[in-house]
Amino acid sequence: MEAFVGSSAFIGKPVMAKSQVCASKRAAPIKMAAAGEADMVPDMTKRNIMNVILAGGVTVPFGAVVGGWLYFLYPPSKGGAGGGVIAKDALGNNVLKADWIKTQGKGARKLVQGLKGDATYLIVNDAGDDLESYGLNAVCTHLGCVVPWNAAEKKFKCPCHGSQYDKTGKVVRGPAPLSLALAHVEEGGSGEVLLKTWTETDFRTNLAPWWK
Ligand code: FES
Repeated sequence: MEAFVGSSAFIGKPVMAKSQVCASKRAAPIKMAAAGEADMVPDMTKRNIMNVILAGGVTVPFGAVVGGWLYFLYPPSKGGAGGGVIAKDALGNNVLKADWIKTQGKGARKLVQGLKGDATYLIVNDAGDDLESYGLNAVCTHLGCVVPWNAAEKKFKCPCHGSQYDKTGKVVRGPAPLSLALAHVEEGGSGEVLLKTWTETDFRTNLAPWWK
C-alpha cells in the first residue's frame, strides 16, 4: 500500500527527464538575455542622438584633415572687398583716394601698407587728378631692402647695394635682377584705395609677372 501511495504521489508529480531539466535551465538565461536586450535598446530619440554624435565624431576629424589639405592647396584670397586689400596709411587708417591725391600732389610716390602687409607705393599721376592704376611693391628684388623714391632724380634708388629702378619700378641698374612687383590700384565703393594682385603681363617688360 505504501508502495502504491508512493507511486501515486510519484505519478501526481511528474518528474522531468534530465534532458528536459537541462533545456529548461538553458532556456531561462535566453529569456533573460532577450529581456535584457529589449531593455538595452534605446528609444528612437536616443538612437538619433547617438547617430548624430557618431556622425559628428567621424565628420569633424575627417573635415579637419580634408580642410587642412584644401587650405594648403587653395589658400584663401587676400581678403578685403572684391578680393583686394584696403591700403592703409602709416597710422593704420584706410587710405581714401580723393584725400590722398589732394594731400600728396602731382607725381607723388608715397608708401602705404599693401598686399601681405608689404610697403607699396601709390603713384599720383602727373596731372595730379588721379592715381595710376598700378602700385609698386617697395621691396628691392636684390636682398629685400625697402627702396626709397628719389624725387630729384625721378628714380627709386636702393641704399643697400645701389640698385636703381625707373619711375615705373622697372630695374635699370643691378645688382637687383628684377623690376619691382606690381599691384592693381582701384577705388572701392566708399572711396577707399584697393590693392589687388597683378596676375597679367608686366607692361614694363612684356613678361609674365615673376611675383605670382
Ligand atoms: S637690397 Fe637693394 S640693391 Fe641689394
